[in-house]
Amino acid sequence: MLITIPEIFRREEALAIRARLDAEAWEDGRLTAGAQSQRVKRNRQLGPTSDVARDLGQTILERLQQTPLFLSAALPLRILPPMFNRYESGETFGVHVDNAIRVNPFTSERLRTDLSMTIFFSDPDEYDGGTLVVEDHYGAQEVKLPAGDMVLYPSTSLHEVTPVTRGTRVSSFFWLQSMVRSNEQRTILFDMDQTIQVLAGRMGAGDAEVVRLTGIYHNLVRNWAEV
Ligand code: NI
Repeated sequence: MLITIPEIFRREEALAIRARLDAEAWEDGRLTAGAQSQRVKRNRQLGPTSDVARDLGQTILERLQQTPLFLSAALPLRILPPMFNRYESGETFGVHVDNAIRVNPFTSERLRTDLSMTIFFSDPDEYDGGTLVVEDHYGAQEVKLPAGDMVLYPSTSLHEVTPVTRGTRVSSFFWLQSMVRSNEQRTILFDMDQTIQVLAGRMGAGDAEVVRLTGIYHNLVRNWAEV
């Protein structure tokens, strides 16, 4: 399932981040690609250990911890430091699947990529092309979101960024290992949690059945999560 989360950053925050990114020196994106990805990847990116990437990455991770919709959808166990990429003048990232295992460059800890994330730092009217296309069981989903918005999709999906034919597309991209490995189980938990929130709003969080359902949710997490 593909989930979009609006306004991880408010518009003025996203613009301030973008201004800092625009001032950076960008390097060839093939440096961090796997063997298959290298053949189709044509973009530029900031290394995750550059000072600005590190600082802005920390800002992103702190914000995500304060975003209930993200926590509910992702059930994150470990999140890799965010990286940043830039596409212009026909740059593109052809169809590929992300590496299953990645190494945290700061801690050398290995992580299984369950979910892939993109946070947009360009508005859709700033560029043509540059659409993120994610293939899932329902067909190809096209994603192009306002600056500050995020998309999460299963890292098992084939995906691509179509060529940018006008303007500049800047975004942050990163991966996480979820406490719940199965996309199907994680989707059930997300639906259930969101439904409980709505019911709690309607009936009150102390309503007996809301309390029971909350207990069932946690018992499912207890059965399915690895921590
Ligand atoms: Ni990818």
